This record gives sequence, structure tokens and C-alpha cells, in this order.
Amino acid sequence: MKSIKVTSKINGGALVVPIAKKDGRAICEIDFPMIDTKAINAALVKIGATAAVDEVLKFPISENLLVVATGLGEQLKSYPLENLRRAAGSAARSLVGEKSATFVFPTKSESELAAVAEGAALGSYVFLDFRGSTKNETKPALEEVVLYSKEAAKIDLKSLLKRVEVLAKYTYLIRDLINTPPSHLTPAVFANEMVKLAKTLKLKYEVLDEKALKTKGYGGITAVGQGSVNPPRLLRISYTPTKAKKHFALVGKGITFDTGGLALKPASGMEAMKADMSGAAAVIATVLAAAELKLPIAIDAWAPMAENMVSDNATRPSDIIKIYGGKTVEVLNPDAEGRLILADALVRAAEFNKKLDGIIDVATLTGAQVVALGTRTSAVMTNNENLAEQFLLAAKDSGEQFWPMPLPEELRPSLDSPVADIANIGERMGGMLVAGLFLKEFVSKPWLHLDIAGPAFNEGKAHGYTPVGGTGIALRSLISLFTSF
Ligand code: BES
Ligand code: MN
Ligand code: ZN
Repeated sequence: MKSIKVTSKINGGALVVPIAKKDGRAICEIDFPMIDTKAINAALVKIGATAAVDEVLKFPISENLLVVATGLGEQLKSYPLENLRRAAGSAARSLVGEKSATFVFPTKSESELAAVAEGAALGSYVFLDFRGSTKNETKPALEEVVLYSKEAAKIDLKSLLKRVEVLAKYTYLIRDLINTPPSHLTPAVFANEMVKLAKTLKLKYEVLDEKALKTKGYGGITAVGQGSVNPPRLLRISYTPTKAKKHFALVGKGITFDTGGLALKPASGMEAMKADMSGAAAVIATVLAAAELKLPIAIDAWAPMAENMVSDNATRPSDIIKIYGGKTVEVLNPDAEGRLILADALVRAAEFNKKLDGIIDVATLTGAQVVALGTRTSAVMTNNENLAEQFLLAAKDSGEQFWPMPLPEELRPSLDSPVADIANIGERMGGMLVAGLFLKEFVSKPWLHLDIAGPAFNEGKAHGYTPVGGTGIALRSLISLFTSF
């Protein structure tokens, strides 16, 4: 999507209308005098519409009007905002190759209008960067989203549209970064590209290269990165508004590719490990978006970046490393690498800003997360119930699915090492929680750990506003949290 606007006039072209199931039949959920809903309903019967979620049907009802009917499922008196987002998103996805479409939803409030706008914008995404000879036959995303609103002239939609535009722009950024393969996104490239974006917003930043990381004592990032010819980085981007209400640090896992290291992963499915930098992409996008939206929250985004490879320099099982700040870790499994780079960054983040109100890490950390919650629900672990509660409410508002997970003390001894302060793996059962307990050792502030292993990368079919590949998860929940203070 290139642009978004609101109109109070319908002039023809593609009209996206929501449909719902009532008494077993699909009916049009709009009631506007200028649209012939009877004709639409008759057509819906003829083509056997069911109004199921993700059903999108296209048919002309006059010479210059194409109806794009999008399913809301069973009819409700009013629809949860997320249902509106998803219905608008499915329709937008079906409109690839089109220049413009008008979304005609019966929105009763600004938040409903915003939800339709968000769904349409998030659904209008196609990744074309690496098409060569097939570029011409691959349709680009819907270019222009037009929202119909009777109130278009009356209400001030500027800030609403700005927010939607920013959320879409930075969701696309996360998706692009995830979809870009490790051949083109090494830690150095990743850090440099993000610095360019930080500069355009006049944000402060700092990049530590492999030499600086080693001399300053970042043993986790160094150990994980040392097996690769593409050396590691630690990037910080800071947004510091005057009169900040709160100070937060965000820490994102930036493994540009995870082979598992000497605990080599099986070939089948390894390609999905290009998405192992999703957390880093999410926290960087969040600080940039917060800055563009001028939110009154100070944010340091930290992105430890490394490529976890196999070589004669790679960290061996049994190697002992020293995390920033001095704790030693016995690396029993070099495939549990995310927690090592995060530990360095978590310690540094708290040292860098002593005034932090909270620290949030975002990571594709464990396969156990996917086993426990599936591919669409992310996990929240914490040392502070209040912060977790506030985050979960914010996430719910944004439409992203997060669920609280415990950090049971009885699992902690499984991380004990006979030779170092702690080992990097413990009990296999509850592996997501064990990883959370490992990270907990490196924080003292109110802290959230978001494990997005499943939801970060869609290996299945596209659905709602979610495309195949990188999804952009966590950005909207974090922005929603930072808006809630
Ligand atoms: N990046 C993986 C986790 C992952 C798995 C993300 C599947 C997305 C989808 C992580 O570095 C990893 O390999 N974790 C190991 C930890 C284990 C060795 C304790 C895992 O989950 O198997
Ligand atoms: Mn791994
Ligand atoms: Zn990993």
C-alpha cells in the first residue's frame, strides 16, 4: 500500500463490503442508500456465499461497480475490532495488482474505522525484492486504500490515519527484514541499514562491531558470532523525548541465521531460521514508530545481531563464556544461542539507563513455544505481574494474540552447571519456561519476555491481514502498550 485516505462519496471501482452469516445465509452487512444491497444479497445467494471468515468473493453489480465481499462469520450486533481488521485484510490481499479500492464498512466509531484501515493497510503487502525474471508476472500490493465514512468531513481523521500509516510502514519494514535471506542480511548489513533509518528520524544510535564486543566483554554475542565469516554487531537506537512519562529498554534477538551451530539443525525446515532475527526487527521498528508518532515514552532499542554457524571457530558444547557483567555460562548446546546474545544486551541495557521503568525482550527463542501455543499465539513471561497485565490488555486491543506463561522456580535448578555460574540449557520439558528462567537471571528491573517463535514467521497459508513469511508480530502490541501510559 502506498497511500490511504477517507471519503464520504462512492464513485465506483472496487467496493469492499463485509458479509455475515444470518440464519444460514450470507448477507451484506451494510445499509447505505447509494448501494443496492438487495442486488448484492441476491448475488450472494446465486454464488453460494457462506460469509465464512477469510471468504472473499468478487462480482460486478453494475457496469462500474465491482463488489468484493469479505466474510465476517456469524452475524453479531457489533464486531470485535480484530474481526474487522481481518475481514478488511483478507479483502486487501485479494486485491493484489489493483490501483485502488474503497472499504465500505458500517463503522460506528473512530476505533472501528481505524480497525478497518489497519486491516486493509496490513493486508496490502507483497514482497517483491528478490523477483528477477518473474517480477513482471508477480502482482504488486493494492496501492491505495480508500475508507468510506459518512463522517469523513466532520471528524478529524489526521491522527487516526497517521497512526495507521506508521503501523503499516513499520510492519512492512519488519516483514521485509524477515523475508530478506541471510545472503543479503548479515549482522553488519542489518545494523547499517537500521542506522540509516535512525538517522532519518534524527535518533541517537551506537553500533559495536566484533572487535568492540570482544574487548568490552560481550561474551555471549561474541561466542555465538565467532563461527561465522559475517561478524556480530550490537546496535542501539534511542528515542528520548523531552518530558518522557516512562523509560523503557527493548531487547530483540537478532540471529540473522540459526543453523544450530555445532548442534546442527536438520536440513528440513532450517530455511525458516532466516526469521530468527524477528525480535530485533520488531524492537527496532518499535522505536522508530514510537519516534514518528512522538509518543511520550523514552525507548532504547537494543539489537544483538549474530549468525549462528558451523566452523572450526564455532563455540563447542562445553565451552564456557562470560556474559557482559561477569556471569559465566557453560554452553552445553550452541543451538540455545538466543539467550546468550540476549543476556549480554539485557545487562548492558540496564547499565546504560539507570532510570528504566521496564525492560522488554522479544525473541524467536524456543521451539517449545510453538509446541505449547501454536503458530499464532505468542508467550509472555515476567517478573512483574502488573506490567504483564498492562501489556496483555494492550496486546488484546491491538489484535495480536499473546498469552501469559509461568516461570516456575522448580525448573531453575535444571540450569545449574557443575563448572560455571549457569548452563545454557536445562530440563527439556517446559523448554520455553526454562529459557525464560535463564533470561531472568540477567534482569533486575520489571521485565517482560515475549517468545514469538511461532507467530513471527508464517510458514502456512496467508490469512486475514497476515501474509506468508514475516508477519511483523509484536510491533502493534508494544506501540499499544506505550500509548497506554
Ligand atoms: N531459533 C530457535 C528457536 C525456534 C524454533 C524459533 C522454531 C522458531 C521456530 C532457537 O535458537 C533454538 O534453536 N532453540 C532450541 C533450544 C534448545 C536447544 C534448548 C530449541 O527450541 O530447540
Ligand atoms: Mn538455536
Ligand atoms: Zn535461534
